[in-house]
Amino acid sequence: MSMLAEAGSVEVLEVSPDSTELGRLCRSGRFDVLIAHLGDDLTAGTLEGTALKGVSLYSAGVNNVDLDTASRSGVLVANTPDVLTDATADTAILLMLAASRRCVEADRYLRDGYFRGWSPDLMLGRNIAGATLGLAGFGRIARATARRALGFGMHVQYCPRPPTDDPSSGPEHGDLEGRVTEVSWRELVTTSDVLSLHVPLAPATRHMINTSIFEAMPTGAVLVNTARGALVDEAALVEALRAGSIAAAGLDVYENEPALTPGLVELPNTVLLPHIGSATHTVRGEMARLCAANAIEMARGELPATAVNPDAWKRSPLAMEIAAADPRLLRRGSSRA
Ligand code: DGY
Repeated sequence: MSMLAEAGSVEVLEVSPDSTELGRLCRSGRFDVLIAHLGDDLTAGTLEGTALKGVSLYSAGVNNVDLDTASRSGVLVANTPDVLTDATADTAILLMLAASRRCVEADRYLRDGYFRGWSPDLMLGRNIAGATLGLAGFGRIARATARRALGFGMHVQYCPRPPTDDPSSGPEHGDLEGRVTEVSWRELVTTSDVLSLHVPLAPATRHMINTSIFEAMPTGAVLVNTARGALVDEAALVEALRAGSIAAAGLDVYENEPALTPGLVELPNTVLLPHIGSATHTVRGEMARLCAANAIEMARGELPATAVNPDAWKRSPLAMEIAAADPRLLRRGSSRA
């Protein structure tokens, strides 16, 4: 807030407006930049005809924004990637361990007064060391999760662009080259003891985890989701967990959050977190600073380094000025020049 207040005038909306009101505000001409988070609905209707220069998202995910409409309207959209990678990967591991070792169930058992002392078969869970972790997606958070899982003695395999079998490019492997195995989507689903989701939510990935995937997963498998809830058909998940087609699920995100599909909370084999993957003091501070810096750059007509639709900037007055002076400068990242 101090960065923003120093750079210009800021209006804080105490109550999140609905999409109609948000659209009205975006078109009002009163604002250069909108700072929004993943609960704000920035679909086509909201962004059409807007007078904004940019939308600065306080999130890495951009699925709540209609990027085509934003680009068509010359509205830059910037997000906060990288700074939350480690914290989110930690959360994926946390959910994997908690679901595999029945942590929440065991905690509740003790608090409810059932603990009568050690016993050989009390709350038996699943091994992590020696198990196979399947990563759906192989971006920054998936790779950070892979590094952690290797430290736990897991075999790590991944499918880079599920549900397609499009292969990864060499540079994507980085320091993990030779330590992780690329497999097809089908193989990932059928051979992973833990399946962890790390893909953006888009029409092609919505409900990519559905009844037929649960049927194909090993019966002892654990599903982990720290990405976006709607990747999973949550009603099908409840059925799969009830029927025992998979063993457990560790979730930080939900299809219609904050609403939960009926039945989910009653299941003992779920670990359910309230979308706190990046929720550390440090990370939320870094996200706030990056979000503010992006907003300030866009308000000044500059192109932030984490813009997700940099082409939208090419029609801005500053870009035109730069292009007129020397078109070679009109490259991504040259805005500060
Ligand atoms: C994001 O940034 O997309 C996370 O879901 C929240 O930190």
